[in-house]
Amino acid sequence: MAESFPQTRLRRLRRTPAIRRLVREVDVGLQHLVQPYFIVSGKGVKRETRPGSALWQVSGDVLAEETRALHQAGVGGVMLFGVPDTKWKPTEPLAGVLSTLTDATKLVRQAAPDAVVMADVCLCSLTEDGHCGVVEDHRIANDASLPKLAEMAVLLAKAGVDFVCPSDMMDGRVGFIRKALDEAHQQDVGIVAYAIKMASALYGPFRAAANSAPSFGDRASYQMPAHNRREALREAALDAEEGADFLLIKPAMSNLDLIRDTRETTHHPIVAYQVSGEYAMLRAAADAGLLDFERAMTELLVSMRRAGADVIISYDARRRAGLLGGS
Ligand code: PBG
Ligand code: ZN
Repeated sequence: MAESFPQTRLRRLRRTPAIRRLVREVDVGLQHLVQPYFIVSGKGVKRETRPGSALWQVSGDVLAEETRALHQAGVGGVMLFGVPDTKWKPTEPLAGVLSTLTDATKLVRQAAPDAVVMADVCLCSLTEDGHCGVVEDHRIANDASLPKLAEMAVLLAKAGVDFVCPSDMMDGRVGFIRKALDEAHQQDVGIVAYAIKMASALYGPFRAAANSAPSFGDRASYQMPAHNRREALREAALDAEEGADFLLIKPAMSNLDLIRDTRETTHHPIVAYQVSGEYAMLRAAADAGLLDFERAMTELLVSMRRAGADVIISYDARRRAGLLGGS
């Protein structure tokens, strides 16, 4: 055996911290992260739905302050989910029930004019039944949902968000919302389309924070089955064609293959959403003394970037930016 065996020694690239840093292929910086918030009415409200959940319910004034601090720290943006005091009746205009969210958006715009603000577009936290579209005869009616989603998108656009984020998974909603935004002279407001959203067991903690659990049935007739890769790529291609500016994939950890596939089949920026259940699993394991939260979280975020995600929505963004607990 020649004394140089093995000829290829990859450990040369790992010998010192400086070499490892030099050959590092991807990174996770604050600029890649987006922090979700659940917006409630009132003043000075800042509460975690469960201690340690990292699901923050905040009032508009607190949101404005937090967004300013996150933007200053270099965090990529915020994602807003409205949690109205009272549920919406399909006969009413949406503006009333959305006022908590639109008022909060205006406060954020004043406090942090340059921060990137995204807002969820979906009916599930607004309606009594907790479904993402309009319910007719115990069915989720696709086409009847589109005008409602578009109305919500236009209200949020006018309040000042940079991006509206339809998460309902109705067919045709990206094109429908794009048209409605353009007609309302909101052509500069973009769409982050939840392109590949699985009917997942990992959304439980979110539904408690957003008060959006379905009151009957489940979301399997509109969210995607986790089993289908080809169908997922059709979803992504459709949203791209209909005018989406970003394509979002969730959950993140269980769909790294689809993040990679989408990276290679489109040229859109890709958003990975590390959902509430993914966060909760890590937190629970860390609290049980089974792993180091910080290192495990970083490893997962890195894997999403390596898979091809440009942006990651994560409940850990504000902690990574140095913002600590609540009151
Ligand atoms: C609702 C929505 C959900 C999430 C984002 N938007 C939950 C659901 O579909 O029931 C989940 C996010 C998370 O779990 O962190 N349209
Ligand atoms: Zn929904």
